Amino acid sequence: MRHKKLFFCFFSLCFYVFAQESKDTSFITTQEYGKKLYENPRNIGCIKCHGKNGESEVIATYKNKNKSKIIKAPKINDMDFEAFKKALSKDKGIMPKYNLTEEEIKAIYLYISSKK
Ligand code: HEC
Repeated sequence: MRHKKLFFCFFSLCFYVFAQESKDTSFITTQEYGKKLYENPRNIGCIKCHGKNGESEVIATYKNKNKSKIIKAPKINDMDFEAFKKALSKDKGIMPKYNLTEEEIKAIYLYISSKK
């Protein structure tokens, strides 16, 4: 009887270790990948200007001839993919140019669109 119990314990332990192991090595989802890229792409993070959820965010305020001016990043969590992609490949304005692959753009798009 004692043997059976021991065997069961051992078996449970093995299973537990195996489960933990496969948890650690599991692949990240596209959404998690998109989150990583959004927060830390190969340049300044999108999050710095567009905010945590891609809502419109104020980047800076300043005064010019006694008038308050605001620089804002637009809302980007409810766009269609083509417009999103196009905005990332143009090289003008305040936003820096990124050299992201189609896969990376898709991942960021998927992530940030889930935040609206
Ligand atoms: C330095 C601040 C800054 C950073 C960093 C930044 N953006 Fe922007 N983004 C802007 C501003 C400002 C605009 C408005 C157009 C312009 O002035 O360039 C914009 C425009 C956009 C647009 C077009 C929105 C529209 O309505 O047409 C998209 C999409 C976008 N950004 C996505 C991103 C993503 C994704 C990243 C990260 C890979 C990123 N941005 C990083 C400031 C920034």
